[in-house]
Amino acid sequence: MRVCVVGTGYVGLVTGAGFAEMGNQVVCLDLDQAKIDALRRNEIPIFEPGLDDLVARNVEAGRLSFALPSDEEIAAAQLVFICVGTPTRKDGGADLTQVDTVAAWVAKAVGRELILVLKSTVPVGTNERIRRIVEGSAHPIHVVSNPEFLKQGDAVADFLRPDRIVVGCDEEDTFAVDLMARLYHPLCLDRNRIIWMDPPSAELTKYVANTMLAMRISFMNEVAAMCDVVGADIHRVREAVGSDSRIGSKFLYAGPGYGGSCFPKDVSALVHTGRQHGLEIELAAATDRVNSRQRSLIYRKLRAMLGGDVRGKRVAIWGCTFKPRTDDLRESAAITLIDALISDGALVAAHDPEARDAVRAHFGDKVNVVEDAYTAVQAADALVLMTEWREYQNPDFDRVRGLMHTPILFDCRNIWSGYGLRGQGFVYAGIGTKGS
Ligand SMILES: NC(=O)c1ccc[n+]([C@@H]2O[C@H](COP(=O)([O-])OP(=O)(O)OC[C@H]3O[C@@H](n4cnc5c(N)ncnc54)[C@H](O)[C@@H]3O)[C@@H](O)[C@H]2O)c1
Repeated sequence: MRVCVVGTGYVGLVTGAGFAEMGNQVVCLDLDQAKIDALRRNEIPIFEPGLDDLVARNVEAGRLSFALPSDEEIAAAQLVFICVGTPTRKDGGADLTQVDTVAAWVAKAVGRELILVLKSTVPVGTNERIRRIVEGSAHPIHVVSNPEFLKQGDAVADFLRPDRIVVGCDEEDTFAVDLMARLYHPLCLDRNRIIWMDPPSAELTKYVANTMLAMRISFMNEVAAMCDVVGADIHRVREAVGSDSRIGSKFLYAGPGYGGSCFPKDVSALVHTGRQHGLEIELAAATDRVNSRQRSLIYRKLRAMLGGDVRGKRVAIWGCTFKPRTDDLRESAAITLIDALISDGALVAAHDPEARDAVRAHFGDKVNVVEDAYTAVQAADALVLMTEWREYQNPDFDRVRGLMHTPILFDCRNIWSGYGLRGQGFVYAGIGTKGS
């Protein structure tokens, strides 16, 4: 099948390469000339494990190519996937400008009957609105909702072996049903993974899934605060609660608050959509508030560890991305913390295995971004672990203590809580844990 992916970011590039891997002829389009040029030189503009091999293999096989948006590519396509951004507007709702622009363009450039697939995360009612935008096009356009559930860091595996594939379209639209079923057939050989539904249900499913996950994180952050005041340990509580098969063990980790390009924006958009319909989605709104509070709490805790004032203090940050195995800094709690530290006069040295260039681009010379994790802790008054990259799991603590000015460790992911670090001369704090 001829597939055209519009928007070649974290989702679009994985989607395009994934469909090419299944034998389709795919072109990925993006407005960003630098991105297209890089991809044409076989350079992957983002860090996503396994994506470089997947892209290289399919480019070599002649099934995957990259281009600036062109009418010819749309005219030839059977399926057009919209994978552009849907950032948060000032009022908390999703900004659909990029989605609308692409839909209007496809309506003009369409050269045969095609399916326009909404893969970007869009609020309920967008499918209907896009139908109105493409109405009157020269060839029929079938609008289908197919939200993406991949997670950065495991995106390739998630795309090629998804838990489920949600497709929202009219049941009687056999053109759309047949083509979507054929497209995803290779992923359904062991079992059917497609859950068919009406478009509003598909649109809502994506927001509910992300909000549910974000809610678990915020709740565990509240539980961690409770652990601190009553003398309980978050690890024990998490293990015991998560072993209940009705609850499950995933997304129960206390930390510095969730981040990334999806959870914060999707929780906020769900609250906004509710309000547009006269509903207050209380739990989602509280999830967002708790997340913001967690970020402030982290900063206050660090400041207290540093004697109540960070001015002139040297703080080392390990990990700047919102989670490991990605280079994405969007809505990262580390960025919020560094912002607070530098605005209060601290001197920050930061390390990240994959995002050093992005951190430099973000902060300029306000932050000393170093190539080696140990260089960051040199003469530091505190080391803050913000992202649980594997290489930080088991550092040489003797070396760390020897390099630091004062041996204060603030482990915002609780990865060192079992190491007995206080006995090794450190001042240690985690999130809701009595460990170390
Ligand atoms: N990142 C994730 O893990 C993830 C997971 C599931 C769903 N989503 C959703 O997928 C969508 C895309 O997210 P992303 O993280 O890939 O965004 P991104 O910012 O990485 O990529 C979007 C790309 O679209 C391009 N673009 C914008 N307008 C365009 C146009 N008119 N023509 C061609 N290209 C255009 C941009 O240049 C950019 O490269 C969002 O709605 C997001 O919520 C993201």
